[in-house]
Amino acid sequence: QTPFGPIFAPNITPDRDSGIGTYSFAAFQRAMREGVARDGRNLYPAFPYTAFSKMTDGDLLALYAYLMAQTPVKATTTPTRLAFPFNVRPLLAGWNLLFNRSGVIEADPAQSAQWNRGNYLVNAVAHCGACHTPRNMLGAERQAAYLDGALVDGWEAPALSELSRAPVPWTQDALYEYLRHGIAAEHGAVAGPMGPVVASLAELPDSDIAAMAHYVASLTPRAIPVDVAPLVAASWRDLGADATEGARLFAGACQSCHHDGNGPPVFGANIPLALNSNLYSDRPDNLLRTILDGIAEPARPGLGPMPGFRDSMNDQQVAELARFLRQRFAPARPAWQGIEQAVARARQLATAP
Ligand code: HEC
Ligand code: HEC
Repeated sequence: QTPFGPIFAPNITPDRDSGIGTYSFAAFQRAMREGVARDGRNLYPAFPYTAFSKMTDGDLLALYAYLMAQTPVKATTTPTRLAFPFNVRPLLAGWNLLFNRSGVIEADPAQSAQWNRGNYLVNAVAHCGACHTPRNMLGAERQAAYLDGALVDGWEAPALSELSRAPVPWTQDALYEYLRHGIAAEHGAVAGPMGPVVASLAELPDSDIAAMAHYVASLTPRAIPVDVAPLVAASWRDLGADATEGARLFAGACQSCHHDGNGPPVFGANIPLALNSNLYSDRPDNLLRTILDGIAEPARPGLGPMPGFRDSMNDQQVAELARFLRQRFAPARPAWQGIEQAVARARQLATAP
């Protein structure tokens, strides 16, 4: 789903009719760098060619060889039909002139080899900015707001820049844990659209994960480490005296797994909610999506699943619960405005992958 309408990803197996079987390497290269299909059609930038254009020819050739060695599958996907004027694909040539100008990423001699590798992986291959960088009205990533956080499929991809709301600043080690294992002890686990990202990074060697963590950590050099213990202790008070509806819902539906931190984790790792960025964010969206849809398929083995409460709580209950969680676990942050509307919006969206 994009603000311009639904965009369907086509078949990229080497099937000659419905896939990319007739693509020469030159045609593949043009698609990856310029966003132009073999038949000359402009491709929508939901296909992240603005990132792939930064890849080296050697890597594009390797990708081409790999894709062409896959089993061809005959399968036609729904063609993308956006409303006027976005259906006029030639307009994308103008878009490309404006927004697809960067070439292959050159190594910065002032930086270490690890930083340069991380920069290349994050910005060219893994296109982290496709979700984490906000876009302008024409759907292009705003470079001035690089990795400042954005919405994707009703989830917030949080800021990884100095705008990060994480109560404990992300360090290189924590980023490594999160990207490698899908969970970081001082933050929490991956959910929503970040799950498939971490699942696919499982193929990468440790050195590449470490390089990405190193690079992303370098974006917030002034982050001051926080002592976690008081933050967690302050949020784990006895619920007994709290008789609000939110507190009762939490005690009934959540506390068995997200208990007060003294006992063993029942499911998953039971990372204290007081450390979760989603409770500190300016928007309640990720918390609401997690409550409604749970975490059906944990990104990495060892992480527990979480049930969704879509069918057992009504909108008003979800809103009460979210209000309580915000107050309880992120007391320094202002109450969320418009929670009811946000719950209604979140409920419209399909179950997360
Ligand atoms: C498909 C969209 C998408 C892509 C691509 C993506 N992310 Fe994410 N990312 C998200 C979403 C959504 C969340 C919130 C997940 C949650 O709440 O559990 C997230 C969360 C994160 C977080 C946790 C932030 C916090 O404060 O809690 C980090 C770190 C992160 N992503 C790094 C990356 C890196 C590095 C890449 C590139 C390798 C990347 N992401 C690619 C969507 C994406
Ligand atoms: C059956 C156990 C279980 C129950 C019940 C449960 N959760 Fe979870 N929850 C998990 C697991 C497992 C995770 C993944 C992290 C982990 O392993 O600690 C998680 C993660 C989360 C996250 C972090 C998501 C992210 O994107 O970082 C939030 C927020 C959350 N739960 C809130 C709740 C709320 C609110 C309730 C009650 C409505 C609830 N949970 C009920 C097991 C549970």
